[in-house]
Amino acid sequence: MDSTFAIETRGLTKVYGSGNTEVVAMRDAEVTIRRGEVVALLGPSGSGKSTFLTAVGLINPPSSGRIFIGGELVADGSKKFRGSRMFRRKHIGFVFQRSNLIPFLSAIENVKIALEINGWSATASRTRAMELMDYLGVADRANYAPTMLSGGQQQRVAVARALANQPSIILADEPTAALDSERGRQVMELFGKVAHEYGTGVVVVTHDHRALDVFDTVFEMEDGIIRRSKTETKSPKIGHGDQQKNQRDRRQEDAQ
Ligand SMILES: Nc1ncnc2c1ncn2[C@@H]1O[C@H](COP(=O)(O)OP(=O)(O)O)[C@@H](O)[C@H]1O
Ligand SMILES: [Mg+2]
Repeated sequence: MDSTFAIETRGLTKVYGSGNTEVVAMRDAEVTIRRGEVVALLGPSGSGKSTFLTAVGLINPPSSGRIFIGGELVADGSKKFRGSRMFRRKHIGFVFQRSNLIPFLSAIENVKIALEINGWSATASRTRAMELMDYLGVADRANYAPTMLSGGQQQRVAVARALANQPSIILADEPTAALDSERGRQVMELFGKVAHEYGTGVVVVTHDHRALDVFDTVFEMEDGIIRRSKTETKSPKIGHGDQQKNQRDRRQEDAQ
C-alpha cells in the first residue's frame, strides 16, 4: 500500500516584493495532508491562504521550501519546475470562488474540455463527463449554458471539471463564498465525499465556520503562519482514505 502523503510541504515560504515593500506572505509552512483527507484552511483576509494554495497548486512558485505531491518532489525553492504545467493538468484540480465556467460552452462541454486537453476522445470524454455530472447531481443540467444554472449548480459543475482527470489533490479557494449557507454546505459535503470515496487530498479555504464538521482536519493561517487548529480539529482518522479505498476495492471484487 502506498503510504505517501497527498501533499507535503517543507519550509514553504513566500516573499512578495523586496526592500521596504517586502511582504512575507507565507512563512515556513510544514503541512502534511493524507490521501482521502479533506482539510479546511481558515484565516483572516491577507493571512496568506491563497498564497499557500497557489504555491501547492504550482501556479505561484514559493521563494523557498519544497512541495511534494503524492510523494513526488514538484517544487524545490523558486526555480521553475520542469513539466509543472503537465503535472498540474494531470494531478491537480482547482475550484475557485466563482465557478469560472466558460460561458459559451454548455455545462457538460465545460467538463469535457478538461478531458480533451489531456487527449481523451470526444466520445470517451462525454461518457466520463456525464458520469461526473451524475455523481455531483447536475446530470439534468448537462446541456444548459452556465448562466442558466444557479450558483450552487455552477459550483457542482466546477467540481466535476476539477475531478475530471482524477487528480491526486483538489484545491478550492473560498468555493462557497458566493452561495447561501445551505448550498454552501452541500458543496462542502461534496468535497468530503470526493476525498473519502476517491482518496483525493482536498484543501478548502473557507470563512464559513458552520460547515467545519464536514472536514477531517482544520488548519488556521495567521500572518503567514499555518498551523493545525487546536479548537476545530477532530480526532485524527488515520488511514481514513485507505480504509475507504479498501472498502471500494472489496466492493469491486465482490461485483466481479
Ligand atoms: N502578487 C502579490 N504581490 C504583492 N503582495 C501580495 C501579492 N499577492 C498577495 N500579496 C500579499 O500577501 C499577503 C497574503 O495574501 P493572500 O495569500 O492573498 O491572503 P489571503 O488569501 O489569506 O487573503 C497579503 O499581505 C497580500 O497583500
Ligand atoms: Mg485569498
